Amino acid sequence: MFGEQKVSFSGVQPSGNLTIGNYLGAIRNFSEYSEKYKTFYCVVDQHAITVRQVPADLRRRTYETLALYMACGLDPNKNTLYVQSMVHEHAELAWILNCFTMFGELSRMTQFKDKSARHADNINAGLFTYPTLMAADILLYQTDVVPVGIDQKQHVELCRDIAERFNQLYPGTFTVPEPIMAKHGMKIMSLAEPTKKMSKSDENANAVVYILDDRDTIIRKFKRAVTDSGSEIRYDVNEKPGVSNLMTIYSCFTGKSIEEIEREFDGRGYGDFKLAVGEATADALAPVQADFRAYMSDKAGLEAQMKKGTEEASWYACRTLSKVAKKLGFVQVR
Ligand code: TRP
Repeated sequence: MFGEQKVSFSGVQPSGNLTIGNYLGAIRNFSEYSEKYKTFYCVVDQHAITVRQVPADLRRRTYETLALYMACGLDPNKNTLYVQSMVHEHAELAWILNCFTMFGELSRMTQFKDKSARHADNINAGLFTYPTLMAADILLYQTDVVPVGIDQKQHVELCRDIAERFNQLYPGTFTVPEPIMAKHGMKIMSLAEPTKKMSKSDENANAVVYILDDRDTIIRKFKRAVTDSGSEIRYDVNEKPGVSNLMTIYSCFTGKSIEEIEREFDGRGYGDFKLAVGEATADALAPVQADFRAYMSDKAGLEAQMKKGTEEASWYACRTLSKVAKKLGFVQVR
């Protein structure tokens, strides 16, 4: 809560490879929040360097991410869109919060355990303290709600614990945030292994549909999607995870209900259905892709947005950080 305003904050990794899972599960619902909340969307380039990055790629993806979010419907006049490293208060508050976060708490984070297994040659301290930087992101804006996927819920819960601990020592410092999860379409599964979540880092390229995939690629990927034994188009996550996942995707992109879809494809085969899902997906993504290209071709325009977002975010971040500094006993002579 900032004054009278309720705040929503979310961080997005600088990756141009957003999947339809990211789109349907999160981004597409983001614009609804700007009606109810003061909303911040931050491209978290500082989180990205916990694993090795090629500088030119990181830079390009930072632009792409901003362009893609705008193409997905985030209006920069209704939402504060900015880049984490441009607002130095994030890193400063992260240091402070490190001193209020326990080694044991960070050791229990499943993402840390997974990532350190995957990057065994680079288990750096940043990977370990990743959640305190994330807590700083959130707490700087006196955030009420954090729209995230289920995989980030544990980090938001840790953020709450840190905020509560800090508030106990220094009352009235932070708003304690709540994670919120999208109601439907939250979990889009892999097209190759439909019991696994669709993940942008999946090694099997056919398992994942990206927002920026071209029409032919999208249709081909859906054609190859794993379906289940039998031939009926029926929603049953346990018996028919593959078909059910395709039905969810089709429902999200067309707005048709599961019952309507069952009726539409009654007596028709998997082939027909998969083609329809591919076409519906490609149709729905075409305008997003066109907008993305338009934004990317105007680099100065994107930079102007970044600058505006940074100025807005800095105002809030600075207020919270100086409140924290005062509470802690840091001398501030400006
Ligand atoms: N860790 C999040 C992810 O990997 C990204 C993120 C960083 C974030 N800071 C955040 C999400 C603050 C919500 C709030 O997806």
